[in-house]
Amino acid sequence: MSQGITFPLPMKKGFGATDRVDKWWKQPLWMATALTAAVIYTGLRVVFFDGEIHYDNHRVTSPIFSPDIIHMFDISAPSWANSAMLILWIPFGFRGTCYYMRRVYHRVFFQNPTGCVVSKPWDEYSGETGLFVLNNIHRYMLYLAIMVLIVKIYDVWHTMQFHEGSSDTLGVSVGTLVLATESFLLTMYVVSCHAFRHMFGGGSDRWTGKFGRIIGKVYWRVSSTNVHHAFWFWTSLAMVFIGDLFVWSVAEGILSDPVLLML
Ligand code: FES
Repeated sequence: MSQGITFPLPMKKGFGATDRVDKWWKQPLWMATALTAAVIYTGLRVVFFDGEIHYDNHRVTSPIFSPDIIHMFDISAPSWANSAMLILWIPFGFRGTCYYMRRVYHRVFFQNPTGCVVSKPWDEYSGETGLFVLNNIHRYMLYLAIMVLIVKIYDVWHTMQFHEGSSDTLGVSVGTLVLATESFLLTMYVVSCHAFRHMFGGGSDRWTGKFGRIIGKVYWRVSSTNVHHAFWFWTSLAMVFIGDLFVWSVAEGILSDPVLLML
């Protein structure tokens, strides 16, 4: 058997050069635009426009500012500080170290690769070395993200608590549905995470015994959501901003939050 023989791929040379005839640049372009817009929007909202982050006396809180730990734990923070400044490192860290996100940013921001069978500007790829080794904390970020998710689910419950005079009632408003959708999409994003799947036996190939078989079933069920991880990534991310815009608009009096059901 011959060894050491390499066959160069018939690749064109020069950044972006390719024989592909499809619009291969469309997907990386919208991804780069969406991620850049998300970062800019978050920065502006958290630093300059953080006045209206909830309405109805905290009944509905914006997803960007949740968990609203300053309010939850009655923390005495300086007037310019807000909860997002204290907790955003968790969703940023979780999404930033996500396996799918790594694939996206290596492609769209570092052009490594530019695309399949598309020439990239440089030859070297040193792998995830240097600062990129920090990506190994992903599984720990998952644990923190699960804690944030639990608070988000609590937020949905909180939107259902209406205080009228001295009596408390349960109800459902549009705001409840908005936050419930956001929590559902985030749940699916977390459940479809590769590290979450690994918790149920990613290193095993068989599950024996009664308990083992249950874990195995969970593993295969979780695996079926993992296939759509990219979908859950984008939809859950989009819903954070849709939810924030909704809460902000209601708090500013631009939209209303009709009550749909009183229990
Ligand atoms: Fe994407 Fe874990 S792999 S969130």
